[in-house]
Amino acid sequence: MAARPCKTVGYTTNSNPNDAATALNILISMPPQQADKAAQWATAMQSRLPSATVSIDNGGEITQTVDYLLTWQPRADLLSQLTHARALFTASAGVDALLHDPNLPACPVIRLRDAGMGEQMADYALYACLHYARGFDRMRAEQTRSQWTPSAGATSRKPTAGVLGLGTLGCVVAKALVAHRFPVRGWSRRQRELDGVLSFAGSEQLPDFLAACDILICLLPLTPDTHHLMNANAFAQLPSGACVVNLARGDILVEADLLAALDSGHLRGAMLDVFAEEPLPSSHPFWHHPSVTVTPHIAAETLVEPGADQIARNIERLEQGKPAIGCVDRTAGY
Ligand code: NAP
Ligand code: GLV
Repeated sequence: MAARPCKTVGYTTNSNPNDAATALNILISMPPQQADKAAQWATAMQSRLPSATVSIDNGGEITQTVDYLLTWQPRADLLSQLTHARALFTASAGVDALLHDPNLPACPVIRLRDAGMGEQMADYALYACLHYARGFDRMRAEQTRSQWTPSAGATSRKPTAGVLGLGTLGCVVAKALVAHRFPVRGWSRRQRELDGVLSFAGSEQLPDFLAACDILICLLPLTPDTHHLMNANAFAQLPSGACVVNLARGDILVEADLLAALDSGHLRGAMLDVFAEEPLPSSHPFWHHPSVTVTPHIAAETLVEPGADQIARNIERLEQGKPAIGCVDRTAGY
């Protein structure tokens, strides 16, 4: 079974101007439960590259040559069939799942940069910081006991927010928190300069960074270096009563260590959007833990229109022999 074409028309690549009949094939592959999303991507890509052939993967054998793949969670047997792909685009910021695929072709892997996600991340992070800064977690617990405590312990000191990962999304989050007058510090691999943000870099500066984070917000990519980085040792270095917000990937955090740090009273609370296993199993202790807020990996959803703008621009760049923007460094893992 071949992929289902949206439209078939001739396409002349700029890199190959003499071959007017060259048709550029773009394949969209999303999990079956996201068929509507795949259709939206196909329409958006077709409208931006009208001469290309845009197809939606239907789960069968790939019979046409695929020049570009646009995917989120590709099926297990797809990548090995893309022997001629010029680049793979993810409909996401994170590329951990794709890089772990043993059949990943050698072509460039290109991720989305922001594509509407930054503002959503900033809203989530700000919500989390205000939640803890204003003591809404404590008031929620008091409400379950019908307890009326008029003073929430108001103080002029806002808690310090620490952003792990000052990349595309981490920077938007850090700026939003600065704008809301939170003291903000950030940690990245290389030193970053950001107005109003106290910046730390590298593993040697991680302890100094952690030591003053009242609210630790994770926006790191999942790589071999960040896997299980938020563990018992890191939690112990946070100030007593700190909160943890994971918006990145579940495997960056050791869930059992987080539960132990919450249960011991060292940590006050956690807001978690991502988990080692997704969907979060119904038996998981996070679901009913009084200090944990669970959201189902919705911190920032890719918006198709800005995402398609980026991908179409990048295809044009590649066809012109220019480097794509957002190319993943496979060695670094992000
Ligand atoms: P990005 O632009 O690649 O930024 C990554 C940041 O992490 C950079 O600042 C990088 O440092 C830093 N970093 C990477 N490895 C590090 C290490 N070993 N030590 C210290 N810092 C390290 O990524 P992004 O677009 O901001 O996205 C971040 C992640 O958010 C994605 O990978 C994805 O997993 C997650 N995400 C989640 C959702 C959701 O809905 N929950 C939505 C979108 C994205 P340098 O600046 O020095 O390179
Ligand atoms: C979502 O999790 C993403 O990586 O874009």
